[in-house]
Amino acid sequence: MVTTSSPDALKRLAAERALDFVDSGMRLGLGSGSTAAHFVAALGAKVRAGGLDVVGVPTSESTRRLAVEHGVPLTTLEETPELDLTVDGADEVDGRLRLIKGGGGALLREKIVAASSGRMIVIADRSKRVARLGRFPLPVEVVPFGHPSTAVRIARALAGIGLPTAMRLRQGSGDGPYRTDGGNLIYDCDLGEIPDPETLDAALSAVPGVVEHGLFIGLCACAIIAGPDGIELLE
Ligand code: 5RP
Repeated sequence: MVTTSSPDALKRLAAERALDFVDSGMRLGLGSGSTAAHFVAALGAKVRAGGLDVVGVPTSESTRRLAVEHGVPLTTLEETPELDLTVDGADEVDGRLRLIKGGGGALLREKIVAASSGRMIVIADRSKRVARLGRFPLPVEVVPFGHPSTAVRIARALAGIGLPTAMRLRQGSGDGPYRTDGGNLIYDCDLGEIPDPETLDAALSAVPGVVEHGLFIGLCACAIIAGPDGIELLE
């Protein structure tokens, strides 16, 4: 039975609240994952009812399909390089609005779209709110070329700042590794708590072969966190 405190009901609640931040004429970034999917569905319903004139840039092929299904008009960053607002989910959110994202594998496009937006709002159920980032394995996206060698250098970068080096190449649903929409691979890093996300951000970004990682720092302006007792806005 779905109650208002089931994780999915809370995700929907946060997603519907995000509609309050959307105005006609806006160019939107559309996030990926199950919470963002609720937002796309709610947005589509409002568009179809004739109450909203917006365009969206999807952050994944699955979100693109969903947006088409729900009647949300789409554009691309090639056509529309600057966006007003991105609404996306997260795997973890801390009190300074730093995020871990990429559980669904869309981190690269999600970060490009968020960085192209005047504002990013995260929508999440309370389980995503953490005191410290890192319990969720940090996704690191790498190009396929020489990826085991890149993994060695990621491990060295982690060890260099005193973090654990355990990581796994993400597996796909069939045979072989998971591939992102861009054809890249993902290593999920088991870091435990991350004492200094900014230092980790710089260390990972400096590794050749790393395309992007799931730490989102300085990108999120507001988080809508839904819990059984209501909605908390973090700004
Ligand atoms: C996808 C993401 C998602 O936003 C994140 O994994 C949260 O997903 P969900 O809303 O399904 O819990 O970063 O790359």
